[in-house]
Amino acid sequence: MNILVIGSGGREHAIIKSISKSKKCSKIYALPGNGGTELLADNIEGDVNDFELIKKITLKHKVSLVFVGPEDPIVNGIYDFFKSNIELKDVNIIAPSKQAGLLEGSKDFAKDFMEKYNIPTAKHKTFSVENINQADSFLESMNPPYVLKADGLAAGKGVLILKDIDEAKLELRNMIIDKKFGDSSTKVVIEEFLDGIELSCFILTDGENYKVLPFAKDYKKIGEGDTGLNTGGMGAISPVPFLDDDFLSKIQNKIIKPTISGIIKENMKYNGFVFIGLIKVDDEPYVIEYNVRMGDPETEVVLPRLKNDLVELFYSMGTPKFSDIKLNISDNHAATVILVSGGYPESYEKGKTINGLNNLSQVSVFHAGTKKKNDSFVTSGGRVLAITSMGKNFELALENSYDQIKNIKFDGMNYRKDIGFDLL
Ligand code: AMP
Ligand code: GLY
Repeated sequence: MNILVIGSGGREHAIIKSISKSKKCSKIYALPGNGGTELLADNIEGDVNDFELIKKITLKHKVSLVFVGPEDPIVNGIYDFFKSNIELKDVNIIAPSKQAGLLEGSKDFAKDFMEKYNIPTAKHKTFSVENINQADSFLESMNPPYVLKADGLAAGKGVLILKDIDEAKLELRNMIIDKKFGDSSTKVVIEEFLDGIELSCFILTDGENYKVLPFAKDYKKIGEGDTGLNTGGMGAISPVPFLDDDFLSKIQNKIIKPTISGIIKENMKYNGFVFIGLIKVDDEPYVIEYNVRMGDPETEVVLPRLKNDLVELFYSMGTPKFSDIKLNISDNHAATVILVSGGYPESYEKGKTINGLNNLSQVSVFHAGTKKKNDSFVTSGGRVLAITSMGKNFELALENSYDQIKNIKFDGMNYRKDIGFDLL
C-alpha cells in the first residue's frame, strides 16, 4: 500500500523509517519531508495545512494510509476533511477529529475536560477581555511562580512562568489585550505552578480501545541543567527510570482510563495518538497538557523500542484485531541527542553543510531540519538531527550517542551534553 506522511521533523523521519520496514508498505510520500525522508520516500513540496493539495496527492498516488505528524493540520480538521469527502472517506487517516484536536488546540477546553472527568491537573481559571478585571485578585490569591498559558496553539512558546506578580499582571494584559500570541492568547489560562519532574505518556487509540506505548522523558530547555529558553526538545530517553509499577498504576487509573473514557463519552472521533504531558509531584501524577499527536523528540526514542509492524498496528485500529495485538517493546533503553543550529531557538543561519554522517556506527540518525543538496545534506532548520542509540541502560545509550556525535560537524552545531543529568 502507498502511505503519505505529513510533516517534516525528526518525528516524521522516525515514522517513515518504521513504516518502511513493514511488508505492507509499498511506496511512501512525505509532505514536505526533509533530507532524511528523501532517502526512503518521495518528498512532495507543499504546506501541511493545504488540504486540497493533500487530497490531490492522496488520489493521484492511490494513498491508503495517511499519517499526520504535527498538530496544526489536526487542529485545523484534517480528519473531518477526509471523512466528509466522498473520495477520501475510506482512506485510513491517523489523526483525531477537529473536536478531539481541541484537547491540544485549546488549553481552556482541555482544562474543562480534565475537570469534568476528574483528571488531576493544576488548579486554574481562564480569563479573556470579559473578565480580565478579576484576574488581578485571582493572581493575588495564588502563590508564585505564576503560570500563564495562551489558550490556543503557539508553537510551544505560549506558556509564561513568572516569579513577579506585577510582571504576571502585565503579561496577562500583553497576552489578552495586545495579542502577544495573536488570536491564540485572546483567552489565557492562569494556573497553579506544579513543582515536580515531567514525563511523557503516549497512547494509541481508535476511540474505543487503546495501547500504552513506552513512556519517555524529554529535555525542553536549550541550556545545560535545564536552563535558558524553551525549545522543541533537545533530547529524550525511554523508558523513564523513575516510573515504577506503583506510579504507573496511578497513571493508568487516575489519568489514562478517565482520559479514554472521557473521549468516548464526549463522542470524540479519535484515530491516533494521545500524548499526555505529565508531572510527578509527591508521588502523584498530574496532567500538564494534552497533545493529539506524537512528541518530537520522544518519537525518536519510543519507536526504536517498538518491535511491532507499525502499519499493521495502524490498520488494526477500529477493528477487533486492535485489542488482540500485543505491543512488543524492547527492554533496551533508547536515548536521543538533538543537534541544533547555532543561535536556536532564537535566530540561526541555514544552509550549512553537514559532514560525517557516513562515519557513524550503532546509531540511528533521524533528520529534522535538513535538506539534501547533491550528494550531501545541509541544515534547513533549528533542530537539525536526532542521534539515537540503544543500550542496556540510558547511560550506555547516551555514551554511544555522544561518542558518535564527535564525528558529525556543521558550522555552528550545538547540543546539550547533559541529557539524562537529572536521573543519575
Ligand atoms: P505546556 O505547553 O502546557 O506543556 O507547557 C510548557 C511547559 O511549561 C511544560 O512542559 C512545563 O515545563 C511548564 N509548565 C506548564 N504548566 C505548568 C505548571 N502548572 N506548573 C509547572 N510547570 C508548568
Ligand atoms: N517534545 C514535546 C512535544 O513534542 O511537544
